[in-house]
Amino acid sequence: MPKLLIATKNKGKLIEIQNLLENIPHQLVDLGDAGITDDIPETGATFEENAIQKARFAGLKSGLLTLADDSGLEIEYLEGRPGVKSARYVPGTDNDRVNQVLKELKGVPTEKRNAKFVAVVALFDPRDNSVKTWRGESLGTIADVPRGSRGFGYDPIFYNFDIRKTNAQATAREKNQVSHRARALRQARIFLE
Ligand code: IMP
Repeated sequence: MPKLLIATKNKGKLIEIQNLLENIPHQLVDLGDAGITDDIPETGATFEENAIQKARFAGLKSGLLTLADDSGLEIEYLEGRPGVKSARYVPGTDNDRVNQVLKELKGVPTEKRNAKFVAVVALFDPRDNSVKTWRGESLGTIADVPRGSRGFGYDPIFYNFDIRKTNAQATAREKNQVSHRARALRQARIFLE
């Protein structure tokens, strides 16, 4: 079975991607398995650019077919922020970033708290230097307080319209049916199969 490298250091993402790609005809390997310890560059202005940059970097380094995800939360009231900067919106922990968003939305009424999660998945093949991307989105609203303890990142404040609870209140299975990442990977999966 050919190997497929999943190029992410984010544990939450890695687990979701492994679940969502279960049973594809590839052996999934992570950055540790591939011996890659470098910081993977992420300097693009869009999710597409960053996903391609990450997949290409790890794919060239390892010589393996490589998949990378670039994702983030776009909040309408904040004109699309934190967007591509979601992982590093403010220094500190996921919790600090959640609190920063809540602070910026303090007093903003529910109807103005619309948001979407975006994921772009890039697949790089070092044999012919080719790259493909797929995008998935998930719509919701920013809750007034964090709810739930599952998931990662902004999951506790993303009230997901498809499941009518926050992503952090959903089971992994529920989130993986409707998430931005699931929607992008469903298309990647068809290609890989
Ligand atoms: P990056 O793709 O490594 O730049 O990081 C994406 C960041 O967006 C994560 O660190 C999270 O803060 C946020 N994010 C992306 N997907 C999710 C998700 O499924 N749940 C919660 N936060 C997410």
